[in-house]
Parts: sequence; structure tokens; C-alpha cells
Amino acid sequence: MDMAFLESSIGVEDLVLLEPLEEESLLKNLQLRYENKEIYTYIGNVLVSVNPYQELSIYGPEFIAKYQDYTFYELKPHIYALANVAYQSLRDQDRDQCILITGESGAGKTEASKLVMSYVAAVCGKGEQVNSVKEQLLQSNPVLEAFGNAKTIRNNNSSRFGKYMDIEFDFKGSPLGGDITNYLLEKSRVVKQLEGERNFHIFYQLLAGADAQLLKALKLERDSSGYTYLNREAPRVDGMDDASNFKALQSAMIVIGFSEEEFRQVLEVTAMVLKLGNVELADEFQANGVPASGIRDGRGVQEIGELVGLNSVELERALCSRTMETAKEKVVTALSVIQAQYARDALAKNIYSRLFNWIVTRINESIKVDTGEKKKVMGVLDIYGFEILEDNSFEQFVINYCNEKLQQVFIELTLKEEQEEYKREGIPWTKVDYFDNGIICDLIEHNQRGILAMLDEECLRPGVVSDSTFLAKLNQLFSKHEHYESKVTQNAQRQYDHSMGLRCFRICHYAGKVTYNVNSFIDKNNDLLFRDLSQAMWKARHPLLRSLFPEGDPKQASLKRPPTAGAQFKSSVAILMKNLYSKNPNYIRCIKPNEHQRRAQFSSELVAVQARYLGLLENVRVRRAGYAYRQAYGAFLERYRLLSRSTWPRWNGGEREGVEKVLGDLSMSSEERAFGKTKIFIRSPKALFYLEEQRRLRLQQLATLIQKMYRGWRCRIHYQLMRKSQILISSWFRGNMQRKRYEKMKASALLIQAFVRGWKARKNYRKYFRSGAALTLANFIYRSIAQKFLLRLKDNLPSTSILDKTWPAAPYKYFSTANHELQKLFYRWKCKKFRDRLSPKQVETLREKLCASELFKGKKASYPQSVPIPFYGDYIGLQRNPKLQQLKGGEEGPVLVAETVMKVNRGNGKTSSRILLLTKGHVIITDTKNSQPKTVIALDSVARVSVTSFKDGLFSLHLSELSSVGSKGDFLLVSEHVVELLTKMYRAVLDATQRQLPVTVTEEFSVRFKESSVAVKVIQGPGGGGKRKLSCKKKGSRCLEVTVQ
Ligand SMILES: Nc1ncnc2c1ncn2[C@@H]1O[C@H](COP(=O)(O)OP(=O)(O)OP(=O)(O)O)[C@@H](O)[C@H]1O
Ligand SMILES: [Mg+2]
Repeated sequence: MDMAFLESSIGVEDLVLLEPLEEESLLKNLQLRYENKEIYTYIGNVLVSVNPYQELSIYGPEFIAKYQDYTFYELKPHIYALANVAYQSLRDQDRDQCILITGESGAGKTEASKLVMSYVAAVCGKGEQVNSVKEQLLQSNPVLEAFGNAKTIRNNNSSRFGKYMDIEFDFKGSPLGGDITNYLLEKSRVVKQLEGERNFHIFYQLLAGADAQLLKALKLERDSSGYTYLNREAPRVDGMDDASNFKALQSAMIVIGFSEEEFRQVLEVTAMVLKLGNVELADEFQANGVPASGIRDGRGVQEIGELVGLNSVELERALCSRTMETAKEKVVTALSVIQAQYARDALAKNIYSRLFNWIVTRINESIKVDTGEKKKVMGVLDIYGFEILEDNSFEQFVINYCNEKLQQVFIELTLKEEQEEYKREGIPWTKVDYFDNGIICDLIEHNQRGILAMLDEECLRPGVVSDSTFLAKLNQLFSKHEHYESKVTQNAQRQYDHSMGLRCFRICHYAGKVTYNVNSFIDKNNDLLFRDLSQAMWKARHPLLRSLFPEGDPKQASLKRPPTAGAQFKSSVAILMKNLYSKNPNYIRCIKPNEHQRRAQFSSELVAVQARYLGLLENVRVRRAGYAYRQAYGAFLERYRLLSRSTWPRWNGGEREGVEKVLGDLSMSSEERAFGKTKIFIRSPKALFYLEEQRRLRLQQLATLIQKMYRGWRCRIHYQLMRKSQILISSWFRGNMQRKRYEKMKASALLIQAFVRGWKARKNYRKYFRSGAALTLANFIYRSIAQKFLLRLKDNLPSTSILDKTWPAAPYKYFSTANHELQKLFYRWKCKKFRDRLSPKQVETLREKLCASELFKGKKASYPQSVPIPFYGDYIGLQRNPKLQQLKGGEEGPVLVAETVMKVNRGNGKTSSRILLLTKGHVIITDTKNSQPKTVIALDSVARVSVTSFKDGLFSLHLSELSSVGSKGDFLLVSEHVVELLTKMYRAVLDATQRQLPVTVTEEFSVRFKESSVAVKVIQGPGGGGKRKLSCKKKGSRCLEVTVQ
């Protein structure tokens, strides 16, 4: 919401609300607002603008945007608001618009028109095409200002021409192009300016801004003081940079579409005008003494000739002479210096004003709309305001005439509009008196009896015509006219007035009385250029200059007079009026606050004059005559509905009912208001003022309420937001924490799982692992090697003979233990097999052998020889010799051993043979030949046996002392088969007595002999004992030495 609503306005923003309605209060109001930099004030929909003479920060895109969004009365008065209304009703209601900007010179018309254009350009459609059109339209301003504006004493940038510009839009409101009409350029300025004023800007811009090369080409000097047409005193204007404006002009012309060549030609023609001013004319006399004129210094003319492609002689002739042409003949007359100067200046003025027209036409060509579609038009009129100078001439006359016409438009359109509105709305309307300036317009423009018509008549009339004859005519014609005065009419009425000159007439314009001096009225109205000059110009080779003077073409030449300046102006004003009447008018009334172009200075007198001739007061009165204020129900309700509880904050009924409700609640009297068909009318500004005041108060209340609600709402929202944020943050935080925890747990679980799975998998697949492969392979190889080894072994087993101890070697060292075991096993198995095959007899034999081995192995040297020899037992053929068998006696059982042994005599050492029989219970020793009593020794009386370790067969039977034979002593015997004999004896003793017979292997033993004992000592003879030869030698009685060979 814009706070502007709440600001109390400075003074009244709409003069319709002014109370009391007087000039003084109006001026006060304007002054108050002006001093507060409020330069805009409304009178209804008319905008009054007071020139601030300073840059105000109320323009630009921001403000444009603001005013675009609001309706007219919602924001402070502003030129943008007016432009917005005009543009929107053009676009939305399809009504062509015109914006009439009026005011004195320096009041700010041109600035206002530029503001309107820039506003429209900013808000209307966009796009490449549209933008270039906009740019062209906007850039036309600097061009027109360069050629048409000048510094005057009243305005540093005064427009010296009237301008009406049509901007054309398509149905969407996008600009298509435009058309510019210019009115009456003040061309006299080209040759002469008042003190403190300047010529048109272009001359100074050209001299200051053109580079040296261009200046040289144009044959110009940079110093402006060298030019007669340029006022020497004021070459510079404060705050105006001619050089940079020249650059701006150049780029603007290019934007508009001027070619480089055209630009150049324009400058050449401009330069020519400057140079013409420096053509000096000198007195000359013709042969007949008639004064004539000539060019003082030919160089200037020469240079002009070169510049525009013109013969300098012809130019000189055209300047200094005149050809009178009748139907029959041509007469050439020389011109006096005065006449020639006049001709020169006329030429300069004509060239310049035609150039200006050409530029306008050329711009129009560029911005012309070619499409045939229906266009919407917005016209902007920036035309010179009412002028009252000290010395008013023809120009002021036509300007004021134009303003008179505009006032007429204003009155008619405003009143007509007002009147029609009341009619439309069905409101009773009483006519308001207002000054109708129709009578003044008539005085000037009446076709037969108007001042302009008189002037034309005077110009065309044959005979002597002068400004005085013209004045006389006016005096005669308007002697009774209430708006016309002159010395003559005053005299007639016996009025005494010093201010009225003899050659003057005065017109009571709607805006005040203006006294015009008739001097040069005729001349200016005629606006003639000698044909010699136009023909000369047409002959120029310069295409632009040539085209400016089409009448110079001899073929085109006609004797018909061109229309006078007055008539031309009148008709163009008529066209303008027609144009304006066809459009919806919007007024901008510009006011100049002081004469010094100074900021913050408000001269009430000056403004009063302008307010008067602008008819501001009248304007307000007219506006208020019926009802000071009207508004469509909708808009009114929108603005004031807050004043009633029934319509605020919501109203569901109709708009009109709503308005009735509001006004009813405010108890407004029925005189003060009227309900039209679509609008509400408020009669007095006071009532409206009251409404506004109420609204202001209510707005304050509402603002407080809104503030209260808003603050509460904001705090609530803020709190809710904070709470929401807090919840969100904590939920996020918690979530995040849990998520993190979960992630951690998940990661851990996964890790554990992975480990377990990995472990399981590894377990399962360990066999496939490479690390186990070597072992597997090794095992396999090892097994196969072992297999091979065993198989080969199977095939190569040695023979089963137990004597065969051969065994194949292990192929590898690591089999050696196994191999060895196998060998042992095999051997044992072989032995077992062998054993299983043995007969019991063999077993017995072997047992005996075993016993022998136990007894003698390693002890007795003859043992090894005994091993392979089987134990026969019977070495004396006992079986076949029955004689011998008797020896056995009655002994039961077989004879274990029967052998012949040698008995050693213990007394002498001599040996004798005996037969020894061993039975199961006895040892029987008998003599072979003589049957000597045999000695039978029971086995249980054999205590022990002794043998030597040598190979001999000596052994001793030691008998127990208790035995029957024991008395004889022990036996010392020698046997061939001592091993067999003793073995069998041992076994027999064992069988018979269960006693192990001790067998002692010794070299020294004692033998009992009768009651004593003999020590036997066996020694190894030198023969090594091989022959088992034995010799016994008795050594004393108790010692027997046995030598074994
Ligand atoms: N709205 C404004 N803001 C600031 N300065 C302004 C404004 N309007 C006018 N002026 C000042 O006043 C000067 C004269 O304004 P402008 O040229 O528009 O007057 P004008 O009415 O066109 O006069 P003329 O009839 O001589 O052409 C401008 O050059 C500018 O300095
Ligand atoms: Mg202007």
C-alpha cells in the first residue's frame, strides 16, 4: 500500500476543492504547493504544471511503474497520471487522444511533451520493432530542437516553432510510427536576434562540434563571432554543451534514418545560410545614376558557390537585381543596397525555414506508418503560448490567434463534455455563463471581415499598399467592435491612452489586451522571395538546396501568387482544430513561476497573469458549476466504502446501493449529491473535502488496525515459523542421530556378517584354495609315489627263502623307514610261512639248535661250525648194532646221543676213548672194547658242566657230591660233538628235573678227583685250535694244563 494515501496533501491537490474559489486563494494554493516542490495540481482532469526550474526526483522508471498501476486520483498529481489516463483510454477504450500543452515561453511545455512521450514509450508494448519506432520518435526531439530551438531572454531552450505530433498505435497499444506537423518557424531569428538571445542552436552546435576537417569542407571558421547572423554577445548558454549536442544530433539523425549524405547536405545548407550573412553589399551606381548594389568582397559568394555548386556570378546577380516579368517583357532593375540586403536576408530566412520544413518532412518519411490497418492516435501539441511582448508584431498576432483557437477548443470541449455528461446521466443541468471567445476568433479569422482577411486583401490590392492603409482599414471596419481598439477608435470614444501608439491596434484577447504594431504586417504576410533568388537556388547543383526551391524551375513557374503567411497559418490552424475536435482532449497548463528561470521563486503577479489567460479560475468554475465532482459508482465506492460499517470491509450489494449506503451513513444532504445513471455527483467541494477528511481519518484508524493486525500476525507467523523450525531441526537432528546409529549398527552387522560369511565360505572352499593345493598335490603325488613304490615292490619282491635277505632299496629316502619295516614284516612273514611248513621233527631239531644257540652262541668258538650240521645223535650206529644197544641197559626211552668220547684221566692227563650214551634220565659211559663196568650217572646228579670257549671238545661234568657216582669225582671228557651233546643233556636235565643245567664257558675250572680237586687250565695253542687237537699235561698233582691246537 502506498503511504501517499496517508500523507496529508499540501494545499489542495485538485483546485476544484479550493475554498473559497478566488484568484488569491488559487495563487496561494499554487504557491504553497510550488514551495513544497509540488509542481503539479489538478483542476478535475486538467493538469496545471508550474515550472520548477530544477531537476526533481519524481521522474524515471520507478515513478512510471507506480503511476502505471494506480488510477488518476490515487496518487499525487503528476504528469504521468495524465499520460497514463490518456494512454489507457486510447488503448482500452479505443478513443484517440490529444494532449494539449499550453503556456508561456519557458513554462515547460516542451519538457512536458517529452515527459509524456517518454512515459508512453515506457509503458507501451515492447519488442525489437516497437523499440526502434519508439527510439525514432524520441530521437526526433533533439533534431527538431537543434534546428527549431534557440536561446531567448525567457528561455534558454525556447521552441521557435509550434509542434503537433501524432503518435500512432496498433490495436494492442504498441507504437507504429507518427507524424509531425510544425507551425510557423520564427525565421526572422535567422538574420537577427534580440540582445541576449541567440540564433537557432544548430549554428553554434555546428561551429563548436564539427571537427576541423568538416569545418574546412564547409568553409567555416570555428569562431562564431565572425558571423554576422550570430549575435556576438551570447555565443554560450549556461548548462548547454553545443559540441556534445552536435554529436547527439548526428546520432539522433542516424537513428531516425538520415543517411550520411543527407546529414552532410543539411550541414552544407546550414553553412550556406551562415555564409550568406557575411556577404557584404556595397553601394554602386548605374550609368544612369540610379543607385545599385554590388558584392563588396567576392570571396564569400565564391565560397558559397563552391559549397552548393552555384555560379557565383549568377548568385551575385540574383542578390543585387530583380527581374520584373510581365506577360510581354522582362525588365531587370538593380537593387539598392538596402533592397539587396533585404533580398539576402529574405533568401537566408527562406533557405533556413524551408530546410526546417524539409527536415520535418524527412523525419515524417522515416516514422510514417505504412500499414493500412486501423490506427489509434495520440496527438501531442506543444505550441507557443499566449505572448504579450513590449512590441508585438505579426508573429505575436498569429500566435495569439492560435491560442485563442485553442481556448475555444478548451471551452467547447470542456463544456460540451460536461453538458453531455449531465444529459447522459440524467442530471438536471443549469447553464453556466462563461466567456465564449468565439467573437474574438471571428474578429481575426472571419473569411470576409476578419483581420487576416483584411490583411490578405491589402496585400493583393493593386495600388499603393502599406501597413498604414491596412490599419486604416481595420479602424474603419472594427470601430465599434468591443474587442478592438486603436488610437482612432479611442479618439472617437474620447478615451485618453498613452500606451496606445499611432501605428498600433489592440485586441482584447480572452487572456488580456494585446497591442500590436502594424509595421511590416504586409511584408510578413506576403512573405515573398524574389523569383530571381528562387531561380538561382534551383540552379544550384546541390540536390538538397535545389529541392528546397521547386518554384525556381522555369517550367513550373506560374504567375499565381502563393498563399500569404496569414492564410497559410489560418488553414493549418483550421486543420489542427479539426484534428483536435476529433480526439479526446487532455490538458496540461504550464505556468512560468518567474521571469528569471530561477528555482523556488514564485512571482504571484506573473502567475496571476498566466492563470488569468489560461482561464484557470474559469476552468475551476466551469468544473464546479454543476457538480464539482463526479465519479463512477464503482470507483467512488472503492475509495469511500471504508467510511461505512455496512460497506467495509465487504460489500456484496450493487455499486450504486453501496454508494447510497455510504452517503446515507454520513448523512450528506440530498442537495449536495445527485445519483446519475452510472456516476455519483457531488455538488460542493466542501462535501468532497469532508469526504476526503473522513477518509483520511478512517485511513489512519485502519492503518493502525492493519498495523496492529499485521504486527500480531507477523509475530504469530514468526513464532510459528520458529516453532516449526525448532521441530524440524530437532526431528532432523534426532532422525540424523538415529540414522547415524543405525548406519553404524548396520555397518557393524554387515561387517560381522561379512566376516562370518567369509569365514564360512573360506571354510567351505578352503579345499579350493591355492594354499591347500600344494598340500593336496603333494599328498597326491606322495600317495601316487607311494602307490607306485608299493606296486613296484609287489612285482619285485625277493624270493620267499628265509635265507634270502635281499630287499630292494627304497627309491626315495623318506620311504627308508617304511621300507625297512616292510622288509622286517616280509621277513617275519617269510619266517612264519617257513615255520608253518616245518614237520614236528624239524621243529624239534630246530628247538635243539635254538637251545644250542642260547647256550653257546657267542661263547664258544666251535659253535658257528656246529650250526649247519644236523644233530644226528647216533654217531656209533647204535640202531644197527644190537650189541651196543645193550649198553643202554634197561633204560626206557630212546638214546639221545650215542657217541665215542675221550675221557681225560685226571691223574695223569692221558686220554682213553669211551662210548657215551645219553638217555632221558642218565648219562652212560662205557668202554668200547672191554666191557668195562660202565658208569651210569643219573641226570639229576649232574650239577653243572664246564666247557672252554675254544674250538675244542673238552668239557667237564660236575656231579653233585651226594650222588652215588660222585665218589669217583667229576668227569673230564672230550667230544667231537660237544655242542650237540651238551645241548641235548641240558634239555634232558630240564625234562627230567625241571632244572636248568648250568653250562659254564671258562678256561679255568676245577675238577673233583677222589677227595681232592684238580684245577684245569685250558690254553690256546699256537695252531689256532683249528685241528681240535688237544694235549693235557699234568702239572703237579692238583693242576692240569690243557693245550688246544
Ligand atoms: N518538469 C520540469 N522539471 C525541471 N525543469 C523543467 C521542467 N519543465 C521545464 N523545466 C525547465 O524550464 C526550461 C524551459 O522549459 P521548456 O523549454 O519546456 O519551455 P517551453 O514552454 O517549451 O518554452 P518555449 O515556449 O519557449 O519553447 C527547461 O529548459 C527546463 O530547464
Ligand atoms: Mg518549447
